[in-house]
Amino acid sequence: MAEIIVAPHAGFCFGVKRAINIAERVSREKKDKNIWSMGPLIHNPQEVERLRKKGIRVWESEKELNEGDTIIIRSHGIPPQKEGELKERGLRVVDATCPYVKAVHQAVEKLVGEGYYVLIVGEKDHPEVIGTVGYLKKAGGEGMVVESKEDLEKIRGVEKVGIVAQTTQNEQFFKEVVGEIALWAKEVKVINTICNATSERQEDVYELAPKVDLMLIVGGKNSGNTRRLYEISRSLNPRSYHVETAEELREDWFANAETVGITAGASTPDWIIDEVKKRVEEILR
Ligand code: F3S
Repeated sequence: MAEIIVAPHAGFCFGVKRAINIAERVSREKKDKNIWSMGPLIHNPQEVERLRKKGIRVWESEKELNEGDTIIIRSHGIPPQKEGELKERGLRVVDATCPYVKAVHQAVEKLVGEGYYVLIVGEKDHPEVIGTVGYLKKAGGEGMVVESKEDLEKIRGVEKVGIVAQTTQNEQFFKEVVGEIALWAKEVKVINTICNATSERQEDVYELAPKVDLMLIVGGKNSGNTRRLYEISRSLNPRSYHVETAEELREDWFANAETVGITAGASTPDWIIDEVKKRVEEILR
């Protein structure tokens, strides 16, 4: 009998759960008003659709907003300048930024206040990082986003370097950046802002992927943290697959598989993980 092991930390993290609870509460209170989330509330199309049915629509274009509409800032946060603009337009802004993301903003402000050049280790185009860069600008600081080790060449010679990370950053890369900077900067201050939810999910994969015949990573294709789990998994187990839903599972993947590991990104709802697990059970039966 084949064994299916679901990773202990698979699925929604605290910040996403919180943002969805806030949005659902707003939708119960404001039935007659337009409710928007600034971008998808989470990187999971199926869950976004479930929320749409509750009246929480994804805001895509400025034109659709009317005075008095409610707009929810998702867990990634937004630049403070943008938040100010929304309020000026007469919108009711509900802030569902994850407290751990808020902690990155505060860390950046602190480092700027202490005179550090700030490195944000993360993806330049990620909404969370765009928000954090907004706080760097607001604080009047200097700094840059680091995506690869090559980026570090640009700041050789800077003496006081402060380092933070995008909350979902890969720990290994963060370590490499810190190690590299420590070799030549005169003073380095590191505030590790990687959120536990990320490291716990990554540790699950390091633990599980080498032990099983086949590994499934469940989550939105546009979810950065899910993709990273998949990359880690594939580096440890070539039979790793990234799926959004149970329908994407292919029976031929499971040939001779005795053990199947399942994990999911921080934006994957439990009901999707359950569907995947059920489908795997059917295939293996
Ligand atoms: Fe927050 Fe961490 Fe989730 S930063 S949104 S709890 S991945």
